Amino acid sequence: MNIVLTGFMGTGKTEVGKKLAEKIGYDFIDTDELIEKKTLMKISDIFENFGETYFRKIESALVDEVSRLDRKVISTGGGVVLKKENMNVLSKNGAIINLSALAETIYSRLKGKNDRPLLIKADVPGEIKKLLEIRKEYYDRCDLSLATDNLSVDETVQKILEYLKQVIPDIA
Ligand code: S3P
Repeated sequence: MNIVLTGFMGTGKTEVGKKLAEKIGYDFIDTDELIEKKTLMKISDIFENFGETYFRKIESALVDEVSRLDRKVISTGGGVVLKKENMNVLSKNGAIINLSALAETIYSRLKGKNDRPLLIKADVPGEIKKLLEIRKEYYDRCDLSLATDNLSVDETVQKILEYLKQVIPDIA
């Protein structure tokens, strides 16, 4: 069984995933990081040179590959939830945990960063709100959803662990 973290950009999937993996003795996988390793390109360069559709294809191929593994904590890119096939394969052998945050929280966490190609826009707060609205129904399809606005990384990990102990009895 894998633990899959989904959620919008800036909800803490990578940081939380790393800590969680360490705590339960699972390997940590970050789909964006793997895509960059495999293509030898930054995500923003893939978007810029080949476009979003191409990125989504690589992303789905990778999601399919990692979903066949076991005992991994898999942090997914914020758009992975959008394709049904991605979520189908991930949920076959994975608990899907969604991290959420308010648009304001996300904006303050991502302000000044330029590594999210979808947010290179004149009105970044407006774009975050728009994408959150479009994606809400996808993020809501998960086994557990946690609002991270007022939680530290450790607190989030703790809450995930409490949930996991109910569904995977032999977890640390
Ligand atoms: C995206 C989120 C990013 C990355 C890409 C697209 C999205 O990952 O996959 O920029 O569509 O939400 P993070 O959620 O890790 O920032």
